[in-house]
Amino acid sequence: MENIKNKIKKIGIIGCGNIGTEIARAVDKGNINVEISGCYDISKQKYEQMLKKLKNIRPEFMQLEDVIKSCDLAIECATKEAVRNIFEIAIKYYRDIIFLSAGGVLDCQDLIEEAKTKMINIYIPSGAVVGIDGLDAAKYLGIKQVTLITRKPPEAFKGNKYLQQKNIDPNKINVETVVFDGTAKEAINDFPANINVAATLSIAGIGPEKTKVKIIIDPFIKTNIHEIIVEGDFGRFRTITENLPSPENPKTSYLTSLSTIVLIKKIVEPIHIGT
Ligand SMILES: NC(=O)c1ccc[n+]([C@@H]2O[C@H](COP(=O)([O-])OP(=O)(O)OC[C@H]3O[C@@H](n4cnc5c(N)ncnc54)[C@H](O)[C@@H]3O)[C@@H](O)[C@H]2O)c1
Repeated sequence: MENIKNKIKKIGIIGCGNIGTEIARAVDKGNINVEISGCYDISKQKYEQMLKKLKNIRPEFMQLEDVIKSCDLAIECATKEAVRNIFEIAIKYYRDIIFLSAGGVLDCQDLIEEAKTKMINIYIPSGAVVGIDGLDAAKYLGIKQVTLITRKPPEAFKGNKYLQQKNIDPNKINVETVVFDGTAKEAINDFPANINVAATLSIAGIGPEKTKVKIIIDPFIKTNIHEIIVEGDFGRFRTITENLPSPENPKTSYLTSLSTIVLIKKIVEPIHIGT
């Protein structure tokens, strides 16, 4: 039967890496009721690698602007640097968009305002953390403090320039060590690999200047652990997420792809559970 109320039928995938491929696989398996109208990646090889993981569908490779034009909902799962250009094209064609590179969205306040006036829906998935729904609800009444405590094993900090400047070698750390204590704005700058969780929290909550971030190197863990503490007029909550890496890309927590797939399902399906 034709679904007359649901207008989102076609998605466009921008970035065919780990997250883009997981989304395409979910469509391939029939787990999301949409079709993929087109895909784009700066590397055509990444698109070809993605195709090899699909059994039932063969979405077309197109230029970026054509992907956005071809779909009802564009999904950016590329990189922070690509966000502004993708955002501008989505606005030009009045297309709704999901952004995975939340750190890039933080720099696009002007485009967020423009999208609002044009009634273009912008979505940022919860990604690698739980608690965004509670933060959203708490904000309605007023939030006093948002704190993110991120705990990762030493190998997650390989090549980090901030630690190099401070003469900290993550591999020589043999006790749990706080290596950063500051604002989300500073953390986003100094720890780009941690950028998305801090950015998503900042956008959902009280902004990057007021959100506090603590980063701990823990040689005794194998997972990335994010703890969020929110205090407000509602009371206080604390969530802890222990993330396993994605099977395809150890830098990305598996929960991120899952949260995006479920967000797309929420957008296209009529049952919405949770805030
Ligand atoms: N919101 C969150 O919680 C969260 C968590 C993890 C990752 N992310 C972000 O999501 C994005 C995708 O993550 P991933 O694990 O799939 O990364 P990935 O490296 O596996 O895939 C990214 C893909 O984008 C492509 N790409 C790079 N620049 C591009 C451009 N300008 N235009 C089009 N394609 C381009 C790359 O070739 C690659 O295939 C990254 O920005 C990552 O930081 C967000």
